[in-house]
Amino acid sequence: MPPHLFVLFGATGDLAALKLFPALFHLSADTDAPFVVLGVGRSDWDDGHLQQAATEALVEAGTDEAEATAWAEKTLRYARTTSYGELEPVFERAAEIEADAGTEGNRVYYLALPPSAFPDAIRSLGTHEAERQATEGAGWGRLVIEKPFGHDAASARELNDIVHEHFAEDAVYRIDHYLGKETVQNLLVFRFANAIFESIWNREQVERVEITVSEPNDAEGRAGYFDGVGTLRDMIQNHLTQLFTLVAMEPPARLDADGIRTEKIKVLRSTRTARPDETVLGQYGAGTVGGEEKEAYRDHEGVAKDSETETFAAVRLHVDNWRWTGVPFVLRTGKRMPARRTEIAVVFRTPPVRLFYRSGEPGMAPAPNRLLIRLQPDEGFHLAFEVKSPGDGFGTTTQELDFCYEDAFGRLPDAYETLLRDVAKGDPTLFVHADEAEQAWRLYEPLLDRGEIEVHPYASGTWGPDAADRLAEA
Ligand code: BG6
Repeated sequence: MPPHLFVLFGATGDLAALKLFPALFHLSADTDAPFVVLGVGRSDWDDGHLQQAATEALVEAGTDEAEATAWAEKTLRYARTTSYGELEPVFERAAEIEADAGTEGNRVYYLALPPSAFPDAIRSLGTHEAERQATEGAGWGRLVIEKPFGHDAASARELNDIVHEHFAEDAVYRIDHYLGKETVQNLLVFRFANAIFESIWNREQVERVEITVSEPNDAEGRAGYFDGVGTLRDMIQNHLTQLFTLVAMEPPARLDADGIRTEKIKVLRSTRTARPDETVLGQYGAGTVGGEEKEAYRDHEGVAKDSETETFAAVRLHVDNWRWTGVPFVLRTGKRMPARRTEIAVVFRTPPVRLFYRSGEPGMAPAPNRLLIRLQPDEGFHLAFEVKSPGDGFGTTTQELDFCYEDAFGRLPDAYETLLRDVAKGDPTLFVHADEAEQAWRLYEPLLDRGEIEVHPYASGTWGPDAADRLAEA
């Protein structure tokens, strides 16, 4: 990793504590290069306060306390700002640090901010960078933007315009942390290094694809963000759409940022915009998750009693291209589900002539072959196929071939660790391009203002509204 100063806007927030400090800690452990983190926030904190908060976050994530404290004291500094349009105190502190830290003037500006603060922050950083870059040997400056990137296609375009007024696209890293997950990147290897799968990856052989992210966690404690956003914007437009494009894309001409993004954008362009009558939304009511009684979404602090914000969404998409015409892709995600599961199920067509029956159910056809790609937890693959049930004539039973990532390779690095390392190296392959962000919004535009779409209630601890099951059946 090259030496650099990591300027973290939103250093006092949840994302910093949960994901960024642990990732920065692991990154530092892997390098001897000078590396300093300058946390920025509006809270009246000082270096000691930030170091303390980060130490607590690291200990919570399993790091030894003495190690966490030593790292925080050595690496973390803090600058307060009262306005993201006025960042002089931040730039002064950055210059002071750089005078003797050996970071060679290289800077990452990481925006983990509420979206309303993006325009001001980007403009101030852009103006400052333009001045800085005019000085010889200034080092590089890269901008990292957390989601949500806009709230619809028009706002994403406006934000892209502001970004491009100040930064070249190759200095901009839009984060979708799903792209940093090893298992998500492995989709490319799985598809394009294994010719046996690639040759059946099309409408001739595949009946449908189901992409599911179920989460037992909820929106409690982050209603301020979530209630104005909902699951379509929080999960479907970004994380699930990224998985969808990686499953549906054509082989890239080259394995670099351009090659991959070009193919992903082509998938998005070939996909029909989603339709309200092929969408099911839901909101969790009270119920039991993991043996614990939970209150309804509308009872969370900060959520209106009549809130119609969706905590579950299922959307059926159609790709109009030679490979996929006629194959539905069902994207489905919800909070307060019975278990945490991120998986892609590719369901294959049944044989054209039915010779056999499901064991014990003579009227039923054998199950179709199914490839389950599990992205978390228990990362791995399961290929389900039919075998003859011994002693039951030509009755069949489903069996699986399994591969488990952890058994083969041990602990996988966290997504943020991978992505922050890539920003430092200047590799944009796993980041979202400006066009991609806009195209992904376009897909869901007819759903965003909600209009007539009903929000079905579902009990906490269940798999969501029944209506959603029909999307996969149709
Ligand atoms: C975040 C969403 O981007 O991703 C959260 O804002 C969601 O609502 C989270 O819980 C899921 O990420 P992961 O890595 O835990 O699957």
